[in-house]
Amino acid sequence: MKNDQQDIFYTINDLRKFLVSARDQNKTIGFVPTMGNLHQGHLDLVQRACDLSDVVIVSIFVNPMQFGPHEDFDSYPRTLNSDRQALAGYACDAIFAPTVREIYPKGLNTEIDVPSLTTILCGHHRPGHFKGVATVVCKLFNIVQPDVAIFGNKDYQQLQIIKAMVQDLLLPVRVIGTDTKREPNGLAMSSRNAYLLESEKQLASMLYSSLTKVAQAVRDDTQIKTTLKQQKQLLTSAGFILDYLEIRDAEDLSKTYVEADKAVVLVAAKLGEARLIDNIIVNLSN
Ligand code: PAJ
Repeated sequence: MKNDQQDIFYTINDLRKFLVSARDQNKTIGFVPTMGNLHQGHLDLVQRACDLSDVVIVSIFVNPMQFGPHEDFDSYPRTLNSDRQALAGYACDAIFAPTVREIYPKGLNTEIDVPSLTTILCGHHRPGHFKGVATVVCKLFNIVQPDVAIFGNKDYQQLQIIKAMVQDLLLPVRVIGTDTKREPNGLAMSSRNAYLLESEKQLASMLYSSLTKVAQAVRDDTQIKTTLKQQKQLLTSAGFILDYLEIRDAEDLSKTYVEADKAVVLVAAKLGEARLIDNIIVNLSN
């Protein structure tokens, strides 16, 4: 059921008051953390949260701690009004849109890190990024105290880090991953696609076709190295600046995926002004 009257809270106190009454009525709480500029990928997560819980909270917070000094924190699209309109089509009960001061009242001191997962792949190319993600998500979990939290498989490494953090810190929340929503040409939806020129948007879909080819080679267990090499060359000569195109164990992101039940093929590359990431999970168990 849609809800065009969802509440918006800017402070932790106001949100907590709202949540107390939901808990008093024994309602389960579903949570979708976002940085806003919502697209259909985000809205799929909201729908999933609505399916799984009585009360749904969406946070919209562009988290400075997860941006590097030369990254796009200042230019990241902030579109609260249109985000509210998009959420009106869903049974989202409340939006939490705090200020930076509300989340970091004393700046930075305590940090959350999952070093085995935060320093590899994107963590290697964006030092400190995942520490920022884990810290803010931990804070948001402490504020909302959700029964279930929904994340996208699109940010696969992020999802694995959140799962590990929840397990290691014994946080009482169920973390659920949801399929990646794509444009008709295969390009994974992302707020950062807004940085692509029209011509680049078509080119950007090459990432998904390269992932598909590598995933097929992994599935067939044939020509894996050659396919990886070919696809890397193809992407580079098309103008991508490739950070990585790799196959990993889908559980712990280690390089030795051969014995694993599931592998994941991951890519990260810059195209024009945008840094794009995507992945495909490959089932190896049958
Ligand atoms: P953001 O990039 O706004 O993404 C919010 C959630 O939407 C994440 O769980 C992400 O994986 C998911 N998502 C993004 N694009 C998607 C797509 N095409 N299909 C399905 N899900 C998609 O990720 C963040 O924000 C931040 O790091 C955050 C977790 C909010 C912490 O600041």
